[in-house]
Amino acid sequence: MSVKIAIVGAGSGYMPGVIRGLLHRADDLSGAELAFCDIDADHLALMARLARAMFAARGADFTVTEHTGLESALDGASYVFTTFRPGGMAARHLDEAIPLRHGVVGQETAGPGGFLMACRSVPVLLRIADLADPGAWIVNYTNPTNVVTDAVLRHRPGTRIIGLCDQHVGDTVMWAELLGLPSGGLEADWIGLNHATWAERVRLHGEPIDLPARLAELEVPDGGATPWRDPSRMAELAKALGFLPNSYAKYYFFHDEVVEELRAKGTTRAQDILAMLPAYYASIAAEAAKPDPDPGRERGGGEHGEFAVDVICALHRDERRRVIVNTSNNGAISSLDDDAVVEVPAVVGRDGPVPLTMGPLPAPVRGLTQAIHAYERLAADAAATGDRRVALQALMAHPFVRSKRTAERILQEGLAAHRAHLPQFAP
Ligand code: G6P
Ligand code: MN
Repeated sequence: MSVKIAIVGAGSGYMPGVIRGLLHRADDLSGAELAFCDIDADHLALMARLARAMFAARGADFTVTEHTGLESALDGASYVFTTFRPGGMAARHLDEAIPLRHGVVGQETAGPGGFLMACRSVPVLLRIADLADPGAWIVNYTNPTNVVTDAVLRHRPGTRIIGLCDQHVGDTVMWAELLGLPSGGLEADWIGLNHATWAERVRLHGEPIDLPARLAELEVPDGGATPWRDPSRMAELAKALGFLPNSYAKYYFFHDEVVEELRAKGTTRAQDILAMLPAYYASIAAEAAKPDPDPGRERGGGEHGEFAVDVICALHRDERRRVIVNTSNNGAISSLDDDAVVEVPAVVGRDGPVPLTMGPLPAPVRGLTQAIHAYERLAADAAATGDRRVALQALMAHPFVRSKRTAERILQEGLAAHRAHLPQFAP
């Protein structure tokens, strides 16, 4: 029997990469119905056109259906792939700008910006959990992915959800380059929380690497920062810590410097993306009209789509593949609660992810990671319930904030700015 896969957020600029990921596994998912769902009807139609053209050019046996509402998209779907940004880039701009006005890093997923995004994402994911067929797997990319996953697991018990982030894929490539190793066979045990993972154990073609010795020799490069990676600061940090940090560690360990940089830059990341999107979508429209489209890779890069489709295949085909995912800890990381949602290597098969036993978090970041977890749990509850006191506690608990006054100001401004998207906080 052919399978139905719903893709919520199918008008996203990341879709060309998802379509490529689907093409890559076309034989393994042959005959599938792909239910594209988006509230933006124009972008939905464009991506459906692009997908049909790319599937036809490569002889992939997929049927694409289009949906502007969740009900028909989710009906009968065995997999619900969620990859949307509630409120779009306009809302992201506010998430990035508001904390900065109060001296706090303004970031899409980390800190108060991520909290405001969680307040928009969580209610939609809870609704998706309510509408999805019993037994369906929600494969979630919607950020903040672990807060969303935690909220669904605790506020809709019994829902099957797996949280994704491909950050470690590109980070591992960056570390291979920094350490002068071939990127192909490098594997790291990234453990912790989404966008707050650490790797003490690294292998090249299965053979352990003496990381402390390599890091001692590492020369800190100058510059080279992109919106996603900052090799200079990462090298500096790894040398101090003695293990590898996730790229988002720069927001914690260089917080004040980053605030200065973001202020000096003058535009938010959301504004930069908004400025490039019209040309990007126009180029996709031009490609979709060609017999063998080759759309640009400016959004989502290469890893995003393939990673998600590989996880769907691991579930669907019971592949028992080792993947880094966000799921219930169950003792995998001994320094975090058993019911914490952690990011950890897991074996993924038909019954979902089984996290691998990883031991404790490295001592220099143990307290920090536990503090981020405390924040995330409060953020998930505030986003699910609309309880303002819990929301204030979440912001006070975040390592970027700590100050009650600052937390109050950001909360008041953030909830007011996003009022239209936050029914759970309605007075
Ligand atoms: C990385 C992170 C994602 C995040 C994205 C933002 O891929 O892992 O969670 O959403 O960067 O990229 P953007 O190009 O939108 O700033
Ligand atoms: Mn991510």
